[in-house]
Amino acid sequence: MSKLDETEREHMLDLAYEAMERAYTPYSHFNVGACLKGESGRYYLGCNIENASYTPTNCAERTAVFKAVSEGERNFSAIAIVCSGKNPAAPCGVCRQVLREFCRDDMPVVFADNKRNYIESTLGELLPHSFGPEDLL
Ligand code: THU
Repeated sequence: MSKLDETEREHMLDLAYEAMERAYTPYSHFNVGACLKGESGRYYLGCNIENASYTPTNCAERTAVFKAVSEGERNFSAIAIVCSGKNPAAPCGVCRQVLREFCRDDMPVVFADNKRNYIESTLGELLPHSFGPEDLL
């Protein structure tokens, strides 16, 4: 498994907690923040953004990916995800598939709870035997 060094992991968790402060969650009150690192070295932050019609809700991870891709970055080296809950916020299935489009299987994915307890995994572990862009070539 590809590992993030401690300094980088802690920095990305800090940025993800900052992003989580901007979560818009009037319905669930469950706040999520994400920090996605581009291979350029730039960080893209995201929070979850809910909607009165529920379905259009966007997760923090997808907010970060869409911000990055729309800014021209398509290659990523790590993501940190944090939440306001008592269990580390593993990315949902939809977000795993969105990450799969742009990230390698060995990309580190760190996810943490509201007390900074974290789990470190990789995208490939979270979404094994996945379907991706190469399958359409
Ligand atoms: N949420 C995320 O932002 N990321 C995930 O991977 C899981 C769920 C958000 C969506 C919704 O605003 C709230 O958490 C409760 O599901």
